Amino acid sequence: MLLDHRILRLLPFSACLITLLLLGITLYGPDVHTIHLASLFFVPSWLIPSPGENEPAPLDPLPASDPHPIIALLRNADRQFEDFLSKETFDLRAAAERYREKRGRHPPPGFDRWWEYARANNATIVEEFWDQIYHDLTPLWALDQREMLNDVRGHNRVFRVRNGKVDSIEGDHFWMPIWADLINEVAEWLPDMDLAMNTMDEPRLLVPWEDMKGYVEVEGRGRRLVDVKEVKNGVSGFTEAEPGFVPEEYPWNGSQPIWPRAASVCPPDSEARKAPLQTDFSQPPILSTNYTLPHTTAGYVSNYTLSTSICHQPDIQGLHGFFIEGISASTGPKLFPLFGSSKILQNSEILLPAAMYYKGDSRFTIEAPTIPWAQKTSSLVWRGLASGGRNKEDNWKGFHRHRLVSMLNGTQAILMPNSSNFIDIESLPLEDFHLESWEKSSLPKNEAMGKWLNSFVDVGFNDLACFPREAQPPDGLTCFYNDYLFTPSSHVNLEEQHQHKYLVDVDGNSFSGRYRDFLRSGSLPIKATLFREWHDSRLVAWKHFVPMDNRFLDIYGIMEFFLGYEDPVSTPQKEDEKYETFANPHAPPPPPPQEPTLPPNTAESRRHLLNTRAPHAEHLNATYAHNHDQLAKKIALEGRDWAARVLRVEDMRVYTYRLLLEYARVMDPEREVLGWVEDLGGRW
Ligand SMILES: *[C@@H]1O[C@H](CO)[C@@H](O)[C@H](O)[C@H]1NC(C)=O
Ligand SMILES: *[C@@H]1O[C@H](CO)[C@@H](O)[C@H](O)[C@H]1NC(C)=O
Ligand SMILES: *[C@@H]1O[C@H](CO)[C@@H](O)[C@H](O)[C@H]1NC(C)=O
Ligand SMILES: *[C@@H]1O[C@H](CO)[C@@H](O)[C@H](O)[C@H]1NC(C)=O
Ligand SMILES: *[C@@H]1O[C@H](CO)[C@@H](O)[C@H](O)[C@H]1NC(C)=O
Ligand SMILES: *[C@@H]1O[C@H](CO)[C@@H](O)[C@H](O)[C@H]1NC(C)=O
Ligand SMILES: *[C@@H]1O[C@H](CO)[C@@H](O)[C@H](O)[C@H]1NC(C)=O
Repeated sequence: MLLDHRILRLLPFSACLITLLLLGITLYGPDVHTIHLASLFFVPSWLIPSPGENEPAPLDPLPASDPHPIIALLRNADRQFEDFLSKETFDLRAAAERYREKRGRHPPPGFDRWWEYARANNATIVEEFWDQIYHDLTPLWALDQREMLNDVRGHNRVFRVRNGKVDSIEGDHFWMPIWADLINEVAEWLPDMDLAMNTMDEPRLLVPWEDMKGYVEVEGRGRRLVDVKEVKNGVSGFTEAEPGFVPEEYPWNGSQPIWPRAASVCPPDSEARKAPLQTDFSQPPILSTNYTLPHTTAGYVSNYTLSTSICHQPDIQGLHGFFIEGISASTGPKLFPLFGSSKILQNSEILLPAAMYYKGDSRFTIEAPTIPWAQKTSSLVWRGLASGGRNKEDNWKGFHRHRLVSMLNGTQAILMPNSSNFIDIESLPLEDFHLESWEKSSLPKNEAMGKWLNSFVDVGFNDLACFPREAQPPDGLTCFYNDYLFTPSSHVNLEEQHQHKYLVDVDGNSFSGRYRDFLRSGSLPIKATLFREWHDSRLVAWKHFVPMDNRFLDIYGIMEFFLGYEDPVSTPQKEDEKYETFANPHAPPPPPPQEPTLPPNTAESRRHLLNTRAPHAEHLNATYAHNHDQLAKKIALEGRDWAARVLRVEDMRVYTYRLLLEYARVMDPEREVLGWVEDLGGRW
C-alpha cells in the first residue's frame, strides 16, 4: 500500500526531511557532486503539502465482497497508480538511467539543467510523465531536418526563439502571446529554434498509416545508445533561412467530412478503414456497443487510451461533431513538426499545454478553496454551448453534446418514450449494465429512468448555437429545428458547478478547456473525449477521474453505482421525505415536488414544455441506499490532490522545457550523436 502523505506529514522527522530538501536545493549548483549529495536525502515530492488542500481523501479500502464491475476497475487503477509512483526518481543519475532504459537513447543535451529546473520547481519526476513527448516526436527522427525546418517556416503562425527568448511571433491569434509567455519561462536554457503552431481548435495533421509505419521503422532502426566517446553535448548550430526563401505550399485539405482522411491513419484491416463512409446524419444515431468491446469491461471503459482511438470505432464518424462538420477543417497528410493543444490519437501534432490551461480566464479556471465533499449536493451538472462543430437542421442528431443533454433529460424520458425522433431512452441497448431502474422497477423503464434522472440532473445548453442563427445572442439562443427537445438554460459558472459532486465533461469543437479546473475542484469529473492532451500520461482513469465511453451509454450505470437507486413506487413516501430530510438549511424552501404528467406528444404540448426544467433543479440532492458516495469522494479528492501535485503551471513549464530540448535535438543536423552523458563519464 502507498503510505498516505498526511500520515507522513505527522511523522516527527518529516519536517526535518523537508528542511534537508530545502538545503539540498539551496546548495545545489552546477557541480554534479552537489547533486549526488542532495540525492542522499531523497524526499518524495508528495511529502510537500499542496496548496488549497483541506479535506483528506478517504482511506477506506475497496469493499472486497462487492461484485460490481466498477470495483474491479477501481482496484486496478489503484494498482496501476502505485506502480506509477514506485517509478519516481529523486536524483539526476536515476532520472538519466530511467531515461536510457525507457527511450533507448542518451538524454538530450541540457538534461542536467532541465532536471535542476524540475527539482527546484518541486516537480514529481516519473519518466512516464513525458511519454507523450516521445510518442509525438518519434516519427520526426525519420525526416530530413532542413526539409522540416522549411515546412515550419512556411507555416502562418511561428515562434522564433533566439538568444534565450521568443524573439518574434508571426500570426496574431490570442493563444500566441500566452504560449510565448510559457516558452519564455524556460527559453534562456534553450538553443535557437523555430516553432510552427496550430491555433485552430481542431487538429490538422493526418499522416496515412503506410507513411507513418515507415517513419516509425526508420526511427527504430536508428535508435541506440551512442558510445560515450562519440557523444556531443551541445547542439551544432542553427541555420537561418536563406534570404529570399519561399516555402513550398503545404497540401491542406478543407473538405468535410474529414473521416476518410482520419481513417487513413488506421491500419488497412481496421474497422475504420473498412467501414462505409457515412454521409447522412439526419436520422437519430444508432447507439450500439458493437464496437466498444476492445476498450470496455462489462460496459465500462477499462482502457481509456484505447477508448479515444477511432480505428476500432467506425460508428464514431456519425457520433461526434468533429467528424460530422467541424467549425473549421484543414488537414494535411504530410508530416512536419506542428505544435498544438490537443489531437485525436491518429493526429501527428506535437502537444503543448493548452494556452487556456496556462493562462485562462474564469471560463476555464478559477482559484477558489475547494468546497468540502459533504457540502456539495449529490447532483450532476453540465452547462455549455451546443458546439462540437457546426450543428444544422440535417446533422445535429449526430452531435455528441446534443446526445449528452438529451440522454440525461429525465423529462424527455418520461414524456417521449418512443417519439422524440432523437434518443429514446427505452430503446437504448442498456441490458449489459443491469440497471436497477431498468430491470427492477415496477414502473415502465422510461418513467423509472426519467424520475431517477430528474432527482439529480441539472444539464442544459445555454445556447443552442443554431445554424443559421435565429437572431444574434443574447436573443438568438434558441433553435427552430430542435427546441422541442432543448431549452436554453441559465448559465452556471465554474464556482457554482463546483457545488455539485458530479461534473460531466465532454468535448467541444475539440478538447474541453474546463477539464483541468474540474480535476482541481474536489468534485468528480466524468470524462468522455476523443482528444489527447499534454497531461494524459500523468492521469490514471478511475483513480483521478471517471472515464466514460463516447456513446455515453455507460453514464446511467456510472451514476447508479455512485448514487444508488430506489424505486419511486415501492417507497411512495420517499419523494416527500427526501425533500424534507435533505433540504439545504441555507437554501430557500423547495417548491412542492411535482412530477411532469404525460400529455399527448403534440406540437402544443411541446411548446408548453419549453420552459420546463428538471423539477427543483437548484435543490437537487439525491441520496439513495446502496450508493458508493464514499468512493466518488475518494476519486474526486485523490484527483484533486494529484492535480495539485502534477498539473500546476510549474509542471506545464517543466513539460515544455523537456519537450523543447528534445525538439531542438531532433531538428539538429547532428542529432544522432547529441546527448548528455556526464553521469557516465566517470565524474561520479
Ligand atoms: C518548493 O517547495 C518548497 C517547500 O515546500 C517551497 O518553499 C518552495 O516555494 C517551492 N517552490 C516552488 C517553485 O514551488
Ligand atoms: C480532400 O479529402 C477528400 C476526402 O476527405 C478527398 O476526396 C479529396 O481528394 C482531397 N483533396 C485533395 C486536394 O487532396
Ligand atoms: C451490431 O451488431 C449486430 C449483430 O451483428 C447487428 O445486427 C447490428 O446491425 C449492429 N449494429 C450496428 C449499429 O452496427
Ligand atoms: C490498452 O490498449 C492498447 C492498445 O490495444 C494496449 O497496447 C494497452 O496495453 C492497453 N492497456 C491496458 C492497460 O490494457
Ligand atoms: C417503446 O419501444 C420499446 C421497444 O423499443 C417497447 O418495448 C415499448 O413498449 C415502447 N413504449 C411505448 C410507450 O410505446
Ligand atoms: C428536457 O426535455 C424537455 C422535453 O423534451 C424539454 O422541453 C426541455 O427543454 C429539456 N430541458 C432542457 C434543459 O433542455
Ligand atoms: C444533501 O443531503 C445530505 C443527506 O443525505 C445532507 O447531509 C447534505 O447536507 C445535503 N447537502 C446539501 C448541500 O444540502
